[in-house]
Amino acid sequence: MSEPRSTHAARGVSRVRRVLAHAEELVAERRDRGACEARVPFLREVIPPAGVGAEIGVFKGRFSPVLLRETRAVQLHLIDPWYLLTPEWHWGRGDRSTVNALRRILGRFRPEIEAGTVVVHIGDDREVLARFPDATFDWVYLDSSHAYEHTRQELAILRRKVKPGGLIAGDDWRPAPAHPHHGVFRAVQELVSEPGWALIHADEQTLQWAVRLPGPG
Ligand SMILES: C[S@@+](CC[C@H](N)C(=O)[O-])C[C@H]1O[C@@H](n2cnc3c(N)ncnc32)[C@H](O)[C@@H]1O
Repeated sequence: MSEPRSTHAARGVSRVRRVLAHAEELVAERRDRGACEARVPFLREVIPPAGVGAEIGVFKGRFSPVLLRETRAVQLHLIDPWYLLTPEWHWGRGDRSTVNALRRILGRFRPEIEAGTVVVHIGDDREVLARFPDATFDWVYLDSSHAYEHTRQELAILRRKVKPGGLIAGDDWRPAPAHPHHGVFRAVQELVSEPGWALIHADEQTLQWAVRLPGPG
């Protein structure tokens, strides 16, 4: 017995939607890959190799393989709330599902996760970071909400969790006060106004920035 015409048509529509979403995701992935590779000279310049690092704000994990490859981290912690924040990133392109993003990251890094080189943490970064012993990280790459108050709180935790003389780096260096992501610039400027802190890189082209913590002693 053949299925009713309306069911057949509905199946066709949903198949077309799936194909379109997949195509949109491939286009978004290709565009993001270019943006991630553009940060490579920055990583090579500022991040010390073979350390313990973290990416805070992981999204679909597009930058994570580049971070791991370029820094040769002995351990890379990936921190993001994914589905605990929202079922879908309304601002994203392609597949906006946070569950799908996390599923792909777990698959992509399966060997490294099983070996303990990559550790995935699902949660608000302030809560996740608070559980680490002080002076855990040689470096972190901060790329989360970009909101001033949130960034200020993240930096207040990171100043204890990153080793003395270590690095806090990140994305979205936006000096223009009207920019929606200006909060990162503001919070970082406040931090580096303190004695011993140094802004070692800030680039409005690639939007990358890096701060060195005061050294030991
Ligand atoms: C700009 S995206 C990260 C992009 C990613 N680093 C890359 O280069 O592809 C921002 C991410 O921050 C995450 N985020 C938002 N609030 C957060 C929080 N409180 N803690 C950790 N991550 C958060 C979002 O879920 C999103 O995945």
